[in-house]
Amino acid sequence: MEKATITFIGAGNMARSLIGGLLSSGIRGKNIRAFDPDPEALKSALSLGPISIYDDSQSAADGADVIVLAVKPQVVREACESIRTCAINQDTVVVTIAAGITTAFIKEQLQENCKIIRCMPNTPALVGWGASGLFTNSKMDDEEKNIVDSIFAAVGATFWMDTEEDIDIVTALSGSGPAYFFFFMECLVDTACQLGLSKETAMALTKQTAAGAGHMVLEENIDIGDLRSAVTSPGGTTEKAIEVLLESGFRESITLALKAAHSRALQLSNNSHSAQ
Ligand SMILES: NC(=O)c1ccc[n+]([C@@H]2O[C@H](COP(=O)([O-])OP(=O)(O)OC[C@H]3O[C@@H](n4cnc5c(N)ncnc54)[C@H](OP(=O)(O)O)[C@@H]3O)[C@@H](O)[C@H]2O)c1
Repeated sequence: MEKATITFIGAGNMARSLIGGLLSSGIRGKNIRAFDPDPEALKSALSLGPISIYDDSQSAADGADVIVLAVKPQVVREACESIRTCAINQDTVVVTIAAGITTAFIKEQLQENCKIIRCMPNTPALVGWGASGLFTNSKMDDEEKNIVDSIFAAVGATFWMDTEEDIDIVTALSGSGPAYFFFFMECLVDTACQLGLSKETAMALTKQTAAGAGHMVLEENIDIGDLRSAVTSPGGTTEKAIEVLLESGFRESITLALKAAHSRALQLSNNSHSAQ
């Protein structure tokens, strides 16, 4: 890992959080390269540490061990075209983080026998609390997989999937997931304000409660349902609230929402297939 050269094609928010994570985990800046057509994005990437920045993607990608395609889905084709003729060989590992872009699409675009990993990170990676799902169907050794794992482990937790279809579920669950929690928190704040708390206090209490619940789930080796039961005393306030949530179809709404996000993820992946 220490010696591998990692190139980021695209130096936007996600690439910068990964670069920051790599630098904090002790990877030397000279092993990290970045290209972005936006000089401001490159400047921000450079402010993270002494990495190498490039004003053309071919030079950035030339000879890299790992190339991370950190661009929006609609420019993945263009990004692949720009590095196709550089020294990508069968040992190069290409990682795509673009939503809905399949490994087959990347293979087709690069027209090379390189190794491809598809990853779905999420926004908490920006603060070191990401959850990333990863998948590969390319033959690669443990060391190569470990290098890519370390890139995403530097900004959170990593989970390897058995099939590429699983990545569409990851997209609906943890990719979109932060927004579900934010939405739930928005609803709590709004209602607490209606009941009479100031917005500032409602917000502070909601944030701390969400963070506290998250920490309990991660730190205590207890089933989530059991944690909920533990704070739901018979005849108490929590029981009343949960009763209303269940009666008003909360569980069904969550199921419908997650299934809708999954269908959309499938649709995007299929579009990337048919774009070949
Ligand atoms: N942010 C997240 O939490 C998150 C979560 C999961 C997955 N992702 C995926 O990660 C990818 C990057 O997301 P992001 O939030 O980092 O996006 P972003 O901030 O918009 O960064 C993308 C960067 O790529 C640059 N770019 C455009 N065309 C390029 C090209 N041909 N070659 C190289 N760079 C190019 C863009 O420059 P311009 O601005 O000048 O176009 C921009 O600086 C997306 O595919 C997204 O779906 C992001």
